[in-house]
Amino acid sequence: MYFPHMIYGGDYNPDQWPEETWLEDARLMQEARVNLVSLGIFSWAKLEPRPGIFEFTWLDRLMDMLHAHGISVNLATPTAAPPAWMVRMHPEMLPVTADGVRLWHGSRRHYCPHNPDYHRYATRIAAQLAERYKDHPALVMWHVDNEYGCHVSECYCDISAASFREWLKKRYTTLEKLNFAWGTAFWGQVYGDWNEIKPPLRTPAHANPTQQLDWARFSSNSWLACFDEQKVILKRITPNLPVTTNFMGFYKGVDYFKFSPHEDVVSQDSYPDTYEPDWMVKAGMAYDLIRSVGVRHTWLLMEQATSQVNWRQRNVNKRPGVMRLGSLQAVARGADGIMFFQWRQSKAGAEKHHSGMLPHTGTDSRTWREIKALGNELPLLNSLLSSQVQAEVAILMDWENWWALELDSKPSNDLKLLPQIYSYYKILFERGITVDFAHPDTNLSCYKLVVAPTLYLVSDHSSENINRYVENGGTLLISFFSGIVDENEHIRLGGYPASFCEMLGLTVEEYTAYPKGLANTLRTTDGRTFTCSLWSDVICVHGCEALAVYESDYYAGLPAITRHKYGKGLGYYLGTELESAGLDWLLGLVCAEAGIMPVLPHLPAGVEALRRSKEGKSWLFLLNHTGSKVQIPIENAGRDLLTGEAVNNSISMETNSVVVLELDNKLTQKH
Ligand code: GAL
Repeated sequence: MYFPHMIYGGDYNPDQWPEETWLEDARLMQEARVNLVSLGIFSWAKLEPRPGIFEFTWLDRLMDMLHAHGISVNLATPTAAPPAWMVRMHPEMLPVTADGVRLWHGSRRHYCPHNPDYHRYATRIAAQLAERYKDHPALVMWHVDNEYGCHVSECYCDISAASFREWLKKRYTTLEKLNFAWGTAFWGQVYGDWNEIKPPLRTPAHANPTQQLDWARFSSNSWLACFDEQKVILKRITPNLPVTTNFMGFYKGVDYFKFSPHEDVVSQDSYPDTYEPDWMVKAGMAYDLIRSVGVRHTWLLMEQATSQVNWRQRNVNKRPGVMRLGSLQAVARGADGIMFFQWRQSKAGAEKHHSGMLPHTGTDSRTWREIKALGNELPLLNSLLSSQVQAEVAILMDWENWWALELDSKPSNDLKLLPQIYSYYKILFERGITVDFAHPDTNLSCYKLVVAPTLYLVSDHSSENINRYVENGGTLLISFFSGIVDENEHIRLGGYPASFCEMLGLTVEEYTAYPKGLANTLRTTDGRTFTCSLWSDVICVHGCEALAVYESDYYAGLPAITRHKYGKGLGYYLGTELESAGLDWLLGLVCAEAGIMPVLPHLPAGVEALRRSKEGKSWLFLLNHTGSKVQIPIENAGRDLLTGEAVNNSISMETNSVVVLELDNKLTQKH
């Protein structure tokens, strides 16, 4: 545990303000019980105004002043915003798109992750900061760069091309192996010299898919390499300080399963559009992902908005109580701290219409009152620090599968991974069932149920792992277009899904995508009918039992949903995209059979329940998203940490309210 209390604070950009405001900032931070600020994320130009000329005295004064006010610092390496002089001296450090367009200075993240000049300057400023502040009592954590991969996830310049070739040489060692993996016999794409290989620049027709897949792997890895390079320096100078960088939830460009083991603390930025009716489901899904990729299971909400953002088409503010509700939702899902972008709302620049903790209006504002109230109640949850969220269900998530599935020239360009994952997650969320995300390579034996939505790319090792999980007694629900290709994106031959046919007791002989607007129906063995669309597998039974069959088309009467006993476990297969009522029916059946219980049964729809626990203690979070007052029957539920009141018979919850019950008795619920 790195922190003695729940973290509260935000990004602090004092370089946007005259020094007179700094003291007021510190005083108001104290008033709101801010205990950590992420400082200087975009301050490179102020810290190194000319090449090699460093200006630290302003930062010295700030660090001292923050410390004097009891506020700790998550000090940033400012490498996401290289200064104008650097760009002028080394214009080739600017990133290049797949069309060969160079992106210029004037916003941020304008650097190529492979440029040696950029690396030289970035590591120098990181080392300078670490040397200067290594013994400063305010410094408690390092925030490296900002949102790796954001805005520009890949650079296609010549320097990047050379790095790509080096990466490929390490991966394949010989051109023969590369030609095999990339399937270059197709369209005569064979390479006879490493120097012929380029990034997947814009091509006349479909580019080579394995080249694109390797490019995604390489680009993701390049951001990790940028992080590692700075981390090594920071750890050498300040070995005991944790190092983090901020993640962006389901962000396609960076494989967070690979990245997070390199961090001491996993952090997440979260900007749900609270105008959408299911914002809490989307936010919850991203929180569960970040908790799951985090090796230590607790994490920090590094950034969120107090109210509106500035980058959507229409930027709706958060209604009263919603900021608190969303913040405590993150804590319910494992966060050990709540932070915001940003402390003081900007006066100038591209983000001046983005909300802040201290809005333009000042302290006589709803936002400030809500910020102050949340800061003052968060310490009531200090006893929860490092407690864990346990899940009995895992949804499989693999960035490589995501990249491969969404390359072009597929049976249906409408088949995307996240909507598939979301359809399962949403139903489990609504059923009050806690979910982890797991990589298909990891040990799955702690889960009663594993759901694998469209696991198109699966390595031999992952296939084996999933089959063993079922054989040893696990329950798997896997859906169409899974187990289709290996890690080279080569088809696994002999009937789909070749990796799982034996375990599932079936073969998919062929599949068909549906044109937009076309649907089919299926009839379940218990007499229900549901609409299905997007896709249909034509399934040959080899031992599995049909739970539902298609009603029309040439495959009418053939199974659409199956179940098969394999070893001690069960493999369910869904060969189509089901309307949500159908998916709810299926998940209900599978969860009942796997013995999966919601966190709390008999909850009104729209009340979210989560449990955190540690050392034999546990805490129950209830969050009221219903939009109205609700009454929840519950007995012997202990004490609400936020109000201090004991809960004996039932809980009455106002709109957007949250209770956190410390469970000291056996929890019971009236039916
Ligand atoms: C984040 C970024 C912040 C700020 C924020 C605005 O992606 O890390 O610096 O720009 O978005 O919502």
